[in-house]
Amino acid sequence: MSKPHPDRREEPGDVVELLLECHERIRRFAGLAQKLTRAKGSPDHEVRDVASAVRRYFDEALPLHVADEEESVLPRLTTRVPELAPALERMVDEHREHQHDLASLVMLCGDIADDPRVLDEKRGELAELAQRLGDDFERHLAVEEREIFPQIDARLPLDERKRMLAELRARRADRDTTSAHAR
Ligand SMILES: [Fe+2]
Ligand SMILES: [Fe+2]
Repeated sequence: MSKPHPDRREEPGDVVELLLECHERIRRFAGLAQKLTRAKGSPDHEVRDVASAVRRYFDEALPLHVADEEESVLPRLTTRVPELAPALERMVDEHREHQHDLASLVMLCGDIADDPRVLDEKRGELAELAQRLGDDFERHLAVEEREIFPQIDARLPLDERKRMLAELRARRADRDTTSAHAR
């Protein structure tokens, strides 16, 4: 039987685990956006809460994950795993391709959060957008999980992975400090 990675799994915080947790949240909020389109007869406060949570997640949290991948993951894998360059390039292209629909989703959910009564009139638009983004994300996340993330554990040394983890955490700490000041 092969020995477990001596230097990895016992680490309390692991960079790939953190990235995968982000993917779970992306899937969860993409699912919530689709659920919102099916909300008929729900109380206004529920519609407002869901729309507001979806808006906040895609506006504030998702860009941190994109920065994790483009600023912490990509440069290191480009150097150490040159054969991964096409997959990394495609990843960045897809991040750009998601921007237009994401901006529309954030705006639409902001409108619904401001006034849940507009859901009825926006339902068709929201359904189409949420479905397309959900499908695009599912394809994008699956490729990252299959082709890119495994190379982090396989090809980057522990000290690099620790530095990446620190960068991911610093991004969230900066965000928390900024939003505390904005309150
Ligand atoms: Fe990504
Ligand atoms: Fe990702």
